Amino acid sequence: MKKEIDDNKVVILSGAGISAESGIRTFRDSGGLWNQYSLEEVATPEAWRKNPKLVLEFYNERRKDVSKAKPNCAHKAIAGLQKKYETVVITQNIDDLHERAGSKNVIHVHGEITKARSSTDPRIVTNIGYESIDIGSLCASGSQLRPHIVWFGEEVLNYEIAREHIQTAKRVLIVGTSLSVFPVAGLLKKARYHSEKLIVSLDVDKKPYGYQFVRGKATEMVPYVCNSWLEGLRVI
Ligand code: APR
Repeated sequence: MKKEIDDNKVVILSGAGISAESGIRTFRDSGGLWNQYSLEEVATPEAWRKNPKLVLEFYNERRKDVSKAKPNCAHKAIAGLQKKYETVVITQNIDDLHERAGSKNVIHVHGEITKARSSTDPRIVTNIGYESIDIGSLCASGSQLRPHIVWFGEEVLNYEIAREHIQTAKRVLIVGTSLSVFPVAGLLKKARYHSEKLIVSLDVDKKPYGYQFVRGKATEMVPYVCNSWLEGLRVI
């Protein structure tokens, strides 16, 4: 039995593109991280087993980038929706820019760069802010700490709660994602037929069925969408 749509719920699904104008690199655009690094060498469990030092250095660099970045007006416009709506942000991003912009309900599905976890017990997760993790950084149980990041081949976090929220949202905004990585990319199909569904990006390989494509930069288009919704209007 499908749950009722909540007229007051807005769900955002964000990807690296929303943080690009804050100076954080995306993955698959020209100049993206996966053009410079081999993801097999830094973002898989095998990489961790083979060369944990290289993996730690890669994420220490990402954490430094995040510590220098600031939320942009797209992050802030999304936080502003909370004045009128129950606003749930589902993000593939590991940065904390949505939180720093003021969003209170942020669901990270690929982990968080400001957290570390035990390499032997995934239940042991600790806040490290923007501190580095090095070989010898140990968790409370004495095991090596690793980034609290979902690597390729690992199970995503919070998928069920994310699915429930997108299924009951009256308004859905997807922003800044190539929709390349599943199962998160498949969440867009869980949105309801009668909900207003938008995707903001510089380009999309294929416009998802039922979604209105709003081409442009997140800092230009997301405030426009959020202002329309704050006035109770559909985006045209
Ligand atoms: N404004 C809006 N969209 C933008 C902007 C911008 N300023 N800059 C880039 N984009 C769009 C690009 O057009 C692209 O569609 O953002 C998207 C970025 O795509 P990816 O680099 O693939 O990032 P993302 O979709 O978040 O990747 C998903 O892949 O590597 C894994 O775990 C990683 O969470 C990540 C996942």
